[in-house]
Amino acid sequence: MSVDPMSARPARIALLCAIAMLLGSGAFSIFSAQEPEPGETAAAAMEDAPTGVADPTAQPIAFSHAHHVTEIGIDCQFCHAYARRGPIAGIPSVRRCAGCHETVLSEEPEILKVLEYFENEEPIPWVRVHDLPDHVRFTHKSHVRAGVECADCHGRVEEMEAAVQVESLSMGWCLSCHKERDVTRDCLACHH
Ligand code: HEC
Ligand code: HEC
Ligand code: HEC
Ligand code: HEC
Ligand code: HEC
Repeated sequence: MSVDPMSARPARIALLCAIAMLLGSGAFSIFSAQEPEPGETAAAAMEDAPTGVADPTAQPIAFSHAHHVTEIGIDCQFCHAYARRGPIAGIPSVRRCAGCHETVLSEEPEILKVLEYFENEEPIPWVRVHDLPDHVRFTHKSHVRAGVECADCHGRVEEMEAAVQVESLSMGWCLSCHKERDVTRDCLACHH
């Protein structure tokens, strides 16, 4: 009798997570908000990247938010460590991925690609999705600290594979929330 691979899946994930935890800091806290890694800004590699990807297969690695957030339980700010500290949320360094994947699934083809970037000390060339025009000033820090949820602006990322943009990011969109929450609509708050 053959074993249904789908029914074996939860047990496999639980096992992998247990391994990841033991090999990590040894505590569940490795899954929660963390200090940024050195050089972990909005990923230098993203600065000149093309934007507006709706097709997840356009990303260099088939990374799944749904797996990492919903199934494994990793906090958004474990990977996007700058969200409550600065203007950008930040893209995780390949070192952060390797922290788990040097041992977890390290033989899978998609993970071998991750480990190759890590060994070559190259950032993963993620394609940037959101990109406001330069004349707009936006900072994550004040929004996150005021309790605006990631989902209010990014939708249900925990159900996505690669992240996609779900809001227009238009001026009208910014202003309607600012009106609703009675915060600044001063031109100079958002424009230089
Ligand atoms: C805290 C540990 C942890 C971190 C950090 C982590 N992963 Fe994972 N990842 C896992 C586990 C556990 C699985 C298995 C999930 C499953 O089978 O559903 C997985 C699965 C994957 C897979 C699917 C592998 C396959 O082909 O079956 C890819 C690709 C992947 N991760 C990429 C990444 C990338 C890229 C990063 C960094 C941005 C990253 N992971 C960070 C734990 C982690
Ligand atoms: C008030 C709306 C808002 C909230 C809340 C918000 N974001 Fe963003 N996010 C944006 C906008 C707008 C951009 C595009 C910024 C740009 O292009 O300069 C962005 C860009 C990003 C980016 C890519 C570029 C970067 O800044 O590194 C990531 C990653 C990100 N957000 C993650 C998050 C996470 C994780 C949270 C919750 C902790 C969050 N965001 C909360 C509006 C928001
Ligand atoms: C294990 C690490 C990891 C976790 C946890 C994680 N992300 Fe991401 N996130 C990434 C990676 C890698 C990318 C770049 C690939 C992509 O765009 O999907 C990314 C991209 C994004 C982007 C698009 C950035 C851009 O280019 O504009 C947003 C928005 C985002 N994540 C939000 C979230 C939110 C919200 C959560 C929690 C619900 C979350 N992420 C959890 C690793 C992670
Ligand atoms: C879902 C609601 C929401 C959306 C959407 C939103 N904001 Fe905000 N914004 C807030 C709240 C709440 C505050 C007040 C934060 C505080 O109390 O410090 C704020 C404050 C600000 C501030 C002043 C504080 C600072 O950081 O200097 C600026 C600038 C700003 N937002 C820009 C933007 C821009 C640009 C957009 C659109 C790209 C945007 N916001 C979209 C809720 C939102
Ligand atoms: C809460 C933030 C916010 C405030 C306040 C704000 N804007 Fe904007 N504005 C934006 C964003 C975001 C964009 C970019 C929209 C886009 O690219 O679709 C923008 C774009 C613009 C543009 C360029 C339009 C175009 O077609 O590219 C002008 C001009 C402008 N704003 C003027 C103003 C003036 C004048 C005020 C004050 C009455 C103001 N803005 C207040 C967020 C804001």
